[in-house]
Amino acid sequence: MALYSETVMDHFRNPRNAGVIEDADGIGEAGNAVCGDIMRIYLKIQDGVIADVKFETFGCGSAIASSSMATELIRGKPLSEALRLSNKAVTEALDGLPPHKLHCSVLAEEAIRAAVKDYYDRQGISYDPGNFPDRGSCGGCHG
Ligand code: FES
Repeated sequence: MALYSETVMDHFRNPRNAGVIEDADGIGEAGNAVCGDIMRIYLKIQDGVIADVKFETFGCGSAIASSSMATELIRGKPLSEALRLSNKAVTEALDGLPPHKLHCSVLAEEAIRAAVKDYYDRQGISYDPGNFPDRGSCGGCHG
């Protein structure tokens, strides 16, 4: 069996939504201290909905595929839905990742949350910090 699903390979080779939004309404970054990979998410928000989303990922193929899939999953969705996006949902949408690559999908979850938080902070919108659990780096799961 191939190590990576066809979906992972497709999103790695043809990443969707790669790039920068110059006038982004929210920017979030997440990194993994162990591998040193970094993911940055840019959001454009209209009426509480993610009108546009782009990513820059300096990292492995799984991180690029996770960024691509995660941005596809939240594009056009309300912020509340983006906040609920889990790395598990990203992994499932990619038809799985090898166990030692699951931490790569965590970067997408964390970077999106950080971008939404940045948007709320810029707008002065109060939010429940409990919605933004600080999971710290995922260094421990890098196996
Ligand atoms: Fe670092 Fe994938 S995010 S190895």
